[in-house]
Amino acid sequence: MSAVRFDPSGPLRGELRPPPDKSISHRAALIGAIGDGPTRISGYLDSADTRSTLAAVSACGAKVSEGDRDGAGGLFVEVEGVGLRGGARAAEIDVGNAGTLLRILPGWLAGQGEGEWTLDGDESIRLRPVDRIAAPLTAMGADVSCRDGRLPPLRVRGSALRGIDYEPPVASAQVKSCVLLAGLLAEGETTVRERIPTRDHTERMLAAAGAEIRRDEGAVTIAPAERIESGDCAVPGDFSSAAFFCAAALLVEGSELALSEVGINRGRIGLLTILDRMGVEMSDSDRGGSGLAVREVREPGPEPVATLIARRSPLRGAAVGAEDVPAAIDELPIVALLACFADGETVVSGAAELRSKESDRIATVVDGLRGLGAEIEARPDGFAVNGTSGLRGGRLEAQGDHRLAMLGAIAGLASEEGVEVEGFDAVAVSYPAFERDLRSLLS
Ligand code: S3P
Repeated sequence: MSAVRFDPSGPLRGELRPPPDKSISHRAALIGAIGDGPTRISGYLDSADTRSTLAAVSACGAKVSEGDRDGAGGLFVEVEGVGLRGGARAAEIDVGNAGTLLRILPGWLAGQGEGEWTLDGDESIRLRPVDRIAAPLTAMGADVSCRDGRLPPLRVRGSALRGIDYEPPVASAQVKSCVLLAGLLAEGETTVRERIPTRDHTERMLAAAGAEIRRDEGAVTIAPAERIESGDCAVPGDFSSAAFFCAAALLVEGSELALSEVGINRGRIGLLTILDRMGVEMSDSDRGGSGLAVREVREPGPEPVATLIARRSPLRGAAVGAEDVPAAIDELPIVALLACFADGETVVSGAAELRSKESDRIATVVDGLRGLGAEIEARPDGFAVNGTSGLRGGRLEAQGDHRLAMLGAIAGLASEEGVEVEGFDAVAVSYPAFERDLRSLLS
């Protein structure tokens, strides 16, 4: 297993275009596969997770061709779809570590006229609940089954579907996306309700591909379709990857980073609201000083993008509650790290969902940071951190979780003694060039 050391560092300075968005890359390949004709994706994330999606759609009969790589590590990919009702080829699908693939693809497969598919993956994927998609799909008339009624492998047999009106018990963009894809193939309309909005990449991309989607306050309704056609798609930078650099700049004295072409979908940037509450000065222009500026906001395609400027900032403890969680779900480990350097206590609650991620992120974040000297305690639905204005350092085990590996690296730069990250190669799931990019910003 790989161990990589990150020593206390001087300022991080310069510009970086973070890697392409993982959520949008998965969806671009999936929607391309169910579309008619070719979908040309520029800036497709080249990572283990998104490669699993390319392999999965190929196994279902889509034709995938790869072109050149761009400067930010994105690939040009063309997906020749099999068509919405084109009869996906029966297959045994290895999703690797990709929860998004595991939970979204079955929506399409469930409504195929015939065929049988099995979705399975690595050790960590086998612990990730799929009853959350099995329940609504079954209510739509699908034939799905899973291990112990809850876990992968997931078996799907194509059948006739009917529309439903559904509110997932936990806020989840993956579940919403799965039900919407099934809705395209169902008889009658399908509505998904959510009290707290989650990322809406699927809705935006399906609308751009010609699907009939209606979005009202707290609900999205999709009509059945005969075909969709997604055409071209440019993937913006991943806010969740950029967030690690923002954290590094906020923590390390003298830092100033510009992160360009970052996707700022409203369902993704809850970290900015939390940072504001933690006392980080937020602005939409760049007047210098400390904190975070969101500049050059524009909408070149279905998704808004911006440049983020991040500088060292003092931090204070804050309360993070259930309503903050969906839009910051993947960034809560970063909140835990920042809280170690804040003045006062930070409490995250309403985030039990963290226990069902690539690792049990309440346990792994709490154990990992405590091992580096943090005063942090696990709660059933979150954690509490007593800010002590720093971290000693030490060893952190990534537990096969890419976000924990990156967290350890940033902790190392901001710590007194540095951090050795065991199992650092987990970063390949979402950001294979993370270490190279991080070191390029250190002066
Ligand atoms: C994702 C949704 C979130 C997030 C995951 C990616 C997506 O999961 O944590 O990393 O691409 O839709 P949930 O839908 O389980 O909240």
